[in-house]
Amino acid sequence: MIKIAASMPAEYRDASSEELARRIAAAKESLGSRLLILGHHYQMDEVMDFADARGDSFGLSKIAAEQRDAEIVVFCGVHFMAESADILTGPEQRVILPDLSAGCSMADMADIDQVEAAWADLATIVDIERVVPITYMNSTAAIKAFVGRHGGAVCTSSNARAVLAWALGDEKASARGDRVFFLPDQHLGRNTALSMGYDQEELVLWDPAQPLGGQMSDVIEQSRVLLWKGHCSVHGRFTIDQVRRFREENPEGKVIVHPECTQDVVESADAWGSTDFLIRWIEAAPIGTVVTIGTEVHLVSRLAKEHPELTITCLDDEVCPCITMARIDAPHLAWVLEEAMEGRIRNQITVDPETARWSLVALERMLEIT
Ligand code: 13P
Ligand code: SF4
Repeated sequence: MIKIAASMPAEYRDASSEELARRIAAAKESLGSRLLILGHHYQMDEVMDFADARGDSFGLSKIAAEQRDAEIVVFCGVHFMAESADILTGPEQRVILPDLSAGCSMADMADIDQVEAAWADLATIVDIERVVPITYMNSTAAIKAFVGRHGGAVCTSSNARAVLAWALGDEKASARGDRVFFLPDQHLGRNTALSMGYDQEELVLWDPAQPLGGQMSDVIEQSRVLLWKGHCSVHGRFTIDQVRRFREENPEGKVIVHPECTQDVVESADAWGSTDFLIRWIEAAPIGTVVTIGTEVHLVSRLAKEHPELTITCLDDEVCPCITMARIDAPHLAWVLEEAMEGRIRNQITVDPETARWSLVALERMLEIT
């Protein structure tokens, strides 16, 4: 049976922001402790104002895993995050994504059929038992399940280094394999591996559109980290020219960026790290600091508002919102909450049990590592 998702009635789109805020607050009050609203840092203020907890994808996944009380979890973020919340919450808890079209273009760049085909290709060149698949949180549940089944783990931008060290070994622990197959963000994989001391030659790009990822077999044999050719279209907009321009205009200014930016941008920055790292950097900055941030603009604008003692700008002055994150807006939030009040669960995210089982293995490995 094909289920057609109900669409939001026009009255929500037409309502004023004041009315929507009043209705969201009333629905929250009425649902009380049955409801938990989680908000990713890239969400707009009209939504974030109502979040019970804010976080990056790692922080929110931990909250989803730890809390068992709320019967309804409204996830204000994108699809892969709501899937992870569904996997990490209990069977009686229901996860809602207010707008089902809030996807992530990076997650869409690794399709499970392509990944299965790449894995089979790789097995013709190297001992596949010694390849550890690692997927960034920004991937579908199907990819997380693939990784779980093949002995790998999920990572986020907060813990990619620890997860890579777990896979490839370091002074504290022995290696779980000879190489990592890193999905789907080449930049997070490359920036993290370079910062750990791996050489550029050990990092090999795997283009899923080409036979054998577009590489010669000896290059693959010498690799330590195979990087899936995926990227974030938002963070991919930041350029080294923007950094140069900012530095010319602000010789004392600082540049901080997210690791989804390209290698040259990350290397030219004063500091780089996960969303949570960027927030902590700002919170610790001395009064008067001039800083430009290479990450999603809703977060940058919120930080600028919350820290008037600093001068904060977005590295891309043409402004680059994540348009899919912005699909979660006050009308959709008001709609799903009012429907839930009436006992109707709209836009529920459910991951099938087999996929959920193996995704959970990969997610729990991450939570154990970090
Ligand atoms: P975080 O892992 O920092 O939450 O980032 C998620 C994301 O989508 C960044 O583009
Ligand atoms: Fe995906 Fe990039 Fe948006 Fe993050 S900012 S959700 S990686 S498209």
